[in-house]
Amino acid sequence: MDGFQLVARIDEIPPGESKIVIVNDKSIAVFNVEGSFYAIYNVCPHEGGPLGEGRLKGYVVSCPWHELAFDVRNGQGTDGGGYCVGSYEVRVEGQEVFVGGRRTA
Ligand code: FES
Repeated sequence: MDGFQLVARIDEIPPGESKIVIVNDKSIAVFNVEGSFYAIYNVCPHEGGPLGEGRLKGYVVSCPWHELAFDVRNGQGTDGGGYCVGSYEVRVEGQEVFVGGRRTA
């Protein structure tokens, strides 16, 4: 699949959970929100906390270090502080989850 990399089987990431993966040398957090998968850069822009280890509530993950919150659909910060992270394309094929390039929109 063009530029997409296999990162997990869907049963490895149950709804409401996440997995940290490496794609093209980047640490990326993959989330399952009610059966849909989303991927954002794992490294918090504040001080580098691992967003993939944060608490997921709906589409919003809170950084485990100081609680900055990001929408996993687009990487936008939801706290109004101007922080954001990159988000990545995700495809599910059968039982497998693939992550591709960075979303531009
Ligand atoms: S490192 Fe994520 S909020 Fe501080």
